Amino acid sequence: MRSKNIQFTEHKVSLEDRWMAHGHRSGILWLTGLSASGKTTLAFELDRLLFQKGWRTFVLDGDNVRHGLCADLGFSPADRAENIRRIGEVAKLFAQSGCLVITAFISPYRADRDRVRAIAGELFHEVHVATSLEVCEARDPKGLYGKARRGEIEAFTGISAPYEAPLKPELVLETSATDIERSVQSLLGYVGTHFTLDQKA
Ligand code: ADX
Repeated sequence: MRSKNIQFTEHKVSLEDRWMAHGHRSGILWLTGLSASGKTTLAFELDRLLFQKGWRTFVLDGDNVRHGLCADLGFSPADRAENIRRIGEVAKLFAQSGCLVITAFISPYRADRDRVRAIAGELFHEVHVATSLEVCEARDPKGLYGKARRGEIEAFTGISAPYEAPLKPELVLETSATDIERSVQSLLGYVGTHFTLDQKA
């Protein structure tokens, strides 16, 4: 049931004041890509490096969030949409708190990602971790591609469920061709350009 009789109270601390206090802009770096594309590895490494430099950062990761906030959801299109809706709202709150939040979700449906962009506006930065299916399947760190091929997992992204690549992502990382270190450097470069205080977002 929808909430009724509610109002919105404006914050007394502005977002710009939070940025000044933290020494950097905030926002959402939304990593999307196939399972085993490298999203989680990149997200946690970027988080570690930025944290070392004194930045307010945090990672929201698909497998982790599905242990708690989204533990009731599966992998049907409707459940994935709800997963991404919840993460989008939580990521927006993190960004509004002045944090640079890095999300690592397959988020295979363009419409679901676009809905997050619509609610978060300029805070949203889409990063396509564009590792090919061939490479992801060869990596198969959790054995899930094997299970999907054998029909032991339903609706597995890239095998028996779709992945809709972003049409105009802010950044594309080709982790098939480059190693993790180079992709992390690309991300650091992007963050330096878009989230330092003297730059335009
Ligand atoms: S999303 O599609 O809703 O964005 P999310 O990123 O939260 O997915 O979770 C993906 C993770 O769940 C994968 O990395 C994998 O470990 C696991 N998983 C389990 N079943 C599936 C499935 N059918 N399709 C994709 N990932 C799955």
